[in-house]
Amino acid sequence: MRGALALEHLSQMEDGRLAYRMKCPLPDGTTRLFFTGLTGWSVLARKEMDMDEKVTAVLDAYHERMKLEHQRMFEGAYEGDPNWRDQVLLEVGPQTGQLINILVRSLPAPRILELGTSYGYSTIWLAEAARETRGHVTTMELQDYKSAHAREMATKAGLADHIDFKVGDAVRMIAELPSGLDFVLVDLWKDLYEPCLRAFHPKLNPGAIIVADNMLRPGGEEVKRYGRAVRALPGMRSVLLPVGSGIEVSRFEPEG
Ligand SMILES: C[S@@+](CC[C@H](N)C(=O)[O-])C[C@H]1O[C@@H](n2cnc3c(N)ncnc32)[C@H](O)[C@@H]1O
Repeated sequence: MRGALALEHLSQMEDGRLAYRMKCPLPDGTTRLFFTGLTGWSVLARKEMDMDEKVTAVLDAYHERMKLEHQRMFEGAYEGDPNWRDQVLLEVGPQTGQLINILVRSLPAPRILELGTSYGYSTIWLAEAARETRGHVTTMELQDYKSAHAREMATKAGLADHIDFKVGDAVRMIAELPSGLDFVLVDLWKDLYEPCLRAFHPKLNPGAIIVADNMLRPGGEEVKRYGRAVRALPGMRSVLLPVGSGIEVSRFEPEG
């Protein structure tokens, strides 16, 4: 069925970027907010973020792909395709990308863990900050072809030396990681948020920051369960922010 995803809102902001919001009718007759976003990242963020040309060129390529994918979603091109999730970036988006980059830059030589590489968009933001801070990114992805694409893009951006690409089930691979994590991005399938939290929590350094995506869009019971679990952990301060698709930002401050 084409056109099932409907553009609900479109407006131009003062700086020239376009803000949009899309809705998707569900089989039960209700309508769910699917995603909101901003176009025109490069106009603003390039200037603000002061990144080198290789990184900017790679981010521009991702943003072009995003625009095309959002357009195709709008036209209903993925309707009825059970594998559509594995064909698209499912990216955190430019605002969350910038925020995680800023947060990582606030940490000295951070060890960064990314859960859910996909095609590598958020990895670029993390790795650029890792290079600036003498940190290192370990990124985990179930699908080998996505991880391979992410590596290719990181190589083009000149960032591959700062990333360890791991392929397989994140919950299992976290168990094999040494302790000492300073930053974690949680952005894989939502039923795995809480099991991953349980797995990486004992490996966090004091002062570690965790960012979990999609807390508001698509949201749902699984991410709410993660939100409750992270807030219940001793020494964890946590806030839900309406950035991108909604992010839970937590900081681990154990006593003593
Ligand atoms: C929302 S996407 C990640 C988007 C990415 N962080 C970005 O912003 O570009 C989620 C990814 O998690 C991966 N994934 C799902 N289950 C996984 C698992 N058990 N272990 C590792 N990755 C998994 C999916 O294949 C998918 O590519």
